[in-house]
Amino acid sequence: MIKNFIEVSGLKKSFQTNHVLKDVSFTICKGSIFALLGSNGAGKTTVIKILSTLTKPDGGNATISGFDVVHQGDYVRECISLTGQFAAVDEVLTGRENLNLIGQLKRLPDVKSKVDEWLSFFNLEDAANRKVSTYSGGMRRRLDIAMSLMGSPQVLFLDEPTTGLDPQNRIAMWDLVKSLAAGGTTVFLTTQYLEEAEYLADSIAILHGGKILAEGTPQYLKEIMPQRGAQLNIQSERKAIEAMKLLNDNGIAVDSIEQNLPSLEEVFLTLIDEKKEGSNHE
Ligand SMILES: Nc1ncnc2c1ncn2[C@@H]1O[C@H](COP(=O)(O)OP(=O)(O)OP(=O)(O)O)[C@@H](O)[C@H]1O
Ligand SMILES: [Mg+2]
Repeated sequence: MIKNFIEVSGLKKSFQTNHVLKDVSFTICKGSIFALLGSNGAGKTTVIKILSTLTKPDGGNATISGFDVVHQGDYVRECISLTGQFAAVDEVLTGRENLNLIGQLKRLPDVKSKVDEWLSFFNLEDAANRKVSTYSGGMRRRLDIAMSLMGSPQVLFLDEPTTGLDPQNRIAMWDLVKSLAAGGTTVFLTTQYLEEAEYLADSIAILHGGKILAEGTPQYLKEIMPQRGAQLNIQSERKAIEAMKLLNDNGIAVDSIEQNLPSLEEVFLTLIDEKKEGSNHE
């Protein structure tokens, strides 16, 4: 694996007085799945827009496969593909026409078989010849992702890929992301679903307050919080004892109780709380 296939260092971006990205740095290995986690408005889409050359940063730098996203945008665009947060499909065209159009724009050989392949993968065969204006939200989402995959990109940016998908299509999406990465595609996704990041990602970065609060494997993020973990454990022990007492008082016997590592959600919320406490003292 090329360790620093995507390298982001000290990225800054403000919109007037809104300092969205203050100092954002992380690296991503080739062929890995990276999840950028953050709440609404944290700046996830802004990071994706900078990396995909749609927006210029105010400071810092970022490279993909060694190419600078600001100064070598043409090279960067050749190796990436983006599925935005809001579907970029053309309403007036049919699903098939949308895919054909992308295939032609990218000058792909054998467009028709690629189009058929993705229509079938995303269960869109029956709707292929209908105008997209008649599609449901989930169908648009799937078509949008299929369009990004037409050119077999080296890096695929997926901005909240599973938002609006039903459980069955969400699982299909997860399988797809895993198989793309296994085939060497580097996948950069944003999500608000912690369990999604935990299940999919090789590494996760938590974006908050314009900075990366923590970065690492899901396992590492849980482990770097021994004190936090211990505090959570004490809290949950207390709750467990109270619960056992309550059950006992009501004549229900408890055989055993189990304690787990803090979930990523707990790690995330604790890091944000600490940050808030810290900033109160600034
Ligand atoms: N073009 C713009 N002009 C002004 N403000 C913007 C612009 N783009 C983004 N912002 C602001 O920057 C902040 C971060 O937006 P961004 O879309 O990156 O967040 P996000 O983490 O993707 O949120 P969400 O989870 O809601 O998608 C928000 O406060 C947003 O209003
Ligand atoms: Mg967003």
